[in-house]
Amino acid sequence: MKHLLKLSDWSAEEITAVLDMADQLKYEKKNGIPHKHLEGKSLGMIFEKSSTRTRVSFEVGMYELGGNPLFLSSADLQIGRGEPVEDTARVLSRYLDGIMIRTFEQKEVEDLAKYGSIPIINGLTDYCHPCQVLADLMTIREHKGTFKNLKMCFIGDGNNMANSLMVGAIKMGMEFAIACPKGYEPDSDLMKWASENGTFTCTESVEEAAKDADILVTDVWASMGQEGEANERKKIFAGYQINSKLMSVAKSDAMVLHCLPAHREEEITAEVFEAHAAEIFDEAENRLHAQKAVMVTLMKD
Ligand code: CP
Ligand code: NVA
Repeated sequence: MKHLLKLSDWSAEEITAVLDMADQLKYEKKNGIPHKHLEGKSLGMIFEKSSTRTRVSFEVGMYELGGNPLFLSSADLQIGRGEPVEDTARVLSRYLDGIMIRTFEQKEVEDLAKYGSIPIINGLTDYCHPCQVLADLMTIREHKGTFKNLKMCFIGDGNNMANSLMVGAIKMGMEFAIACPKGYEPDSDLMKWASENGTFTCTESVEEAAKDADILVTDVWASMGQEGEANERKKIFAGYQINSKLMSVAKSDAMVLHCLPAHREEEITAEVFEAHAAEIFDEAENRLHAQKAVMVTLMKD
């Protein structure tokens, strides 16, 4: 396990090991127990898109592990002026011990891994968001105690979050149902894999997807890079919203997750968001612990 390029590359056992370590690191932080596993190591963090959570949680996480995080905006790197990824990868591999990258194309992340010689961590692409889903799985296990016999439902765009949640849920043995408008389904190869490896439904009906769900998840209707489609998407996705009416078809103790940032009254109402704020902000906090576990797993000697 040299990289975290996408969750589908990791086995259920590898995911569980990282979640177990994340729980331990969270306990150690809360109890003031030092855990400087990456002393003397440097992590480069390349951002080609905006970020609040990913940037701050990786940066603080690296400090807490005794290492050195470097924020590298693509606007300031030569990569932003056309230096090839294969050269950037080989140069940065001579200075750093790991790279976290947030970008558009999944191929760029895969190419960094192909040409570089240090661990690469995907901090979000248009295709997937594995770090977020590790934090989501950690939060579900904290709140529900298990993944057994749970149904996860995703409402909205079949985007990077939907792709990674589908893989994470099926790998951990949960049922996964997505409700999305026609033409906005998740990746077709991943849907085929999900159908062959677990209980998977893709429907246009939000009620069908949310029926008896234990966990409801949603994400923005227009992701980063789709700002120009935002108005059109507001019409297409109207109705693909987590609201109190939809919550009434889910289990009475259902939890709600949102990777954030959230657009209230679009994909989720303010009422449901605030009723489930404890879970949603645990989820945000768990980015820190889960990513520290990923860094230790990939970067510790
Ligand atoms: N959820 C998430 O990745 O948030 P940021 O875009 O703020 O990093
Ligand atoms: N789907 C969203 C997730 C943000 C964390 C995006 O890609 O913008």
